[in-house]
This record gives sequence, C-alpha cells and structure tokens, in this order.
Amino acid sequence: MKYYVSASVLSADLLDLRSEIKKLEESGVDMLHFDVMDGVFVNNITYGLPVLEQVRKATNMTLDVHLMITDPLKYVGGFAKAGADIISFHSESVSDVRKTIKAIRDAGVRTALAIKPKTPAESVYDLLPELDMLLVMTVEPGFGGQSFISDTVEKVRLIRRKIDELGLDCDVQVDGGINYETAPVVREAGANVLVSGSCLFKAEDMSEAVRKLKGDA
Ligand code: DX5
Ligand code: ZN
Repeated sequence: MKYYVSASVLSADLLDLRSEIKKLEESGVDMLHFDVMDGVFVNNITYGLPVLEQVRKATNMTLDVHLMITDPLKYVGGFAKAGADIISFHSESVSDVRKTIKAIRDAGVRTALAIKPKTPAESVYDLLPELDMLLVMTVEPGFGGQSFISDTVEKVRLIRRKIDELGLDCDVQVDGGINYETAPVVREAGANVLVSGSCLFKAEDMSEAVRKLKGDA
C-alpha cells in the first residue's frame, strides 16, 4: 500500500506560515491538512476561507481541508473556490450527508467524510462508493496534541475491509495522536493517509519524521 502524510497546519508557526509551508514542501510531506473549526461543532475556533486563499497562493501542495463545522453544506462551495483539493466534513454535522457529498463532487473537489471516535463504522458503509476518502478521527476533534484513542483501530480495520470487499478505490485517513508508536498500528489496520501535527512539527528532521510515519525508516 502507498502511504501519504498530511501535515496539520494547526501545529505550525502560524505567524511564519510561508516558511513553514516551504519546509513542508522540502520534507516530502504529501498534503497540507487544514483544520477548520467554528466553535459550535467543536469547542475551538481556528481559521477559514481568507487564510486558505492565501495558503493556496503560496503552494501547489494538495490542500486537504477538514471541516469541523456545524453546517458544512453552506460552505463547501466557498472552500472549493478558495483552493481546496480535498474536503472532508463530518457525518455528525447537521447538513444532509448525500447532498453535501454531491456539492463537493460538483465543485470538482475530492470528497471525504469524517467520523468522530464514537461513530460506528457501519454507519458509513453505504456511503463508501461515493467517497474518495473516509477520515477516521482517532481523537475527539477540536485540538492538536491529544492522545490517540486505541478503540478506533478496530474501526479502521472494519472500514478498510469493507472498502476491499466492495472493490473501491477509497483512501482511509486517520487524524489525531499519530506518532511513531501509533503510525505502524494504524497502517497495519489499513489506514493509508496519516495526518500528523505535533509529531511532525516537533521533529528535528522533518524529512526523517515523514519517512518514519510512512514506515520507510
Ligand atoms: C484535531 C485535528 C487534527 C490535529 C492533529 O481536531 O483534526 O488534525 O491537528 O494534531 P496531532 O497530530 O497533534 O494530534
Ligand atoms: Zn484534522
């Protein structure tokens, strides 16, 4: 399986984002993970459209936008226009899931659905054929730097098994608490896109960190 690392901007030096992006580009990171929080869906507020627009101008990297907002359907058009390459939204949000998937696809953006740690795998099986990626949250959404919830590993395994059974080409992304100890565990369970915030930005050698997370070092 080919593995990808998506770097969570939440852990970057936000006042020096241009050089952080440069560093990420040089390190072999595959995508830039952009966490949008509205203070209602989760207990935190981050950044949104104007920042994404600026980031888009600064890099050709794949922009992987993770919407942790109450009504994503209202905003997917805006994020597509601002330069998102992938948009994930939560099945637990108030928006109609199928309508939101369609809106993302119609905007020409890769479509992903995210589920919180307590949301069962079975609840998304029917939707897998519509998706380019399924995001399994491995911490409660809201903050970087939290500890990995190991109960979620079984869910990754079930979802990967279902994707294979259905013969689909759908990535499985994991987000939260991914580090050198947990990365091999989620890879073995079937995840192939690993979001990393604190582990990556704390590393002295970012390229080495990327290789380690992918299991290449
Ligand atoms: C949490 C965010 C994550 C977070 C990951 O709600 O969705 O993307 O930034 O950070 P780490 O890797 O530090 O857990
Ligand atoms: Zn995220």
